[in-house]
Amino acid sequence: MAYEFITVSIEDAIGIVALNRPKVLNALNLALIDELVAELERLDRDPAIRVIILTGNDRAFAAGADINEMAEESAISIMQKDQFAVWDRMRLISKPIIGAVSGFVLGGGCELMMNCDLIVASETAVIGQPEIKLGVMPGAGGTQRLTRAVGLRKAMEMLLTGEPIKADEALRYGLVNKVVPVEMYFKEALQLAKRIATQPPLAVQAIKKTVHKAEDLPLDEGMDYERNAFYLLLASEDRQEGMKAFLEKRNPHFTGR
Ligand code: CAA
Repeated sequence: MAYEFITVSIEDAIGIVALNRPKVLNALNLALIDELVAELERLDRDPAIRVIILTGNDRAFAAGADINEMAEESAISIMQKDQFAVWDRMRLISKPIIGAVSGFVLGGGCELMMNCDLIVASETAVIGQPEIKLGVMPGAGGTQRLTRAVGLRKAMEMLLTGEPIKADEALRYGLVNKVVPVEMYFKEALQLAKRIATQPPLAVQAIKKTVHKAEDLPLDEGMDYERNAFYLLLASEDRQEGMKAFLEKRNPHFTGR
């Protein structure tokens, strides 16, 4: 598939998608989001792929929505394009997405990062929601996901001042999983992806979905959901293989069935 604004490569069972508008710090125009979501859905359907990495370049993961494009829009025209419906499709990706981020992670870039399940950041990452400085506010989940991730007070501070935080602070607030030197963030993300790719795919996807339920459901409903997902996994071939391998003291070989 030929894309204009992203690149795609495959390493073992890992699909690697890189945003590719370096001259504008990977500003997210509508066409980029269309391409990105279409590719994530394609990788999600590909049985050879077990984990997805989403990355940018060392200078910028993404500096937000494309302000040139947005400046042309009215409330009505942007509503009619319904671009956020495309963003919403990312929530349905069943395979884990690892964000490998560096440099500017701002506005829509931060919102995109927060769509990832695990995040490895470079020490150079600056992460924030500066929309208020443009007279607007986040529209792709920034107020909701940031608050869930860092708590109400820190989210208020970041959203109301528009000032970004550095990688080490993001780590302290649990907004990212790991911070490493800039030469290492992609390698580290790849290593993490390879580790997860050896796990049983059905369990990986069930865990991803169930953990996300913890953000949406009351505890008793989340517990019910978890229990049913657990019962379902007991019917998988991989559960037989996992337990047999343990008893036979060998490494399991999981097939995703
Ligand atoms: N949209 C369009 N173009 C952008 C952009 C954006 N979000 N961010 C950077 N660029 C472009 C710049 O216009 C510049 O292009 P030219 O070379 O043609 O002038 C190029 O990228 C390089 O940027 P700078 O020269 O500004 O680089 P810098 O190192 O001096 O500053 C920066 C970097 C601090 C990130 C600065 O570019 C900046 O503040 N960018 C905007 C960040 C922002 O406000 N993002 C939020 C967007 S709104 C949003 O995302 C809404 C939402 O929730 C969906």
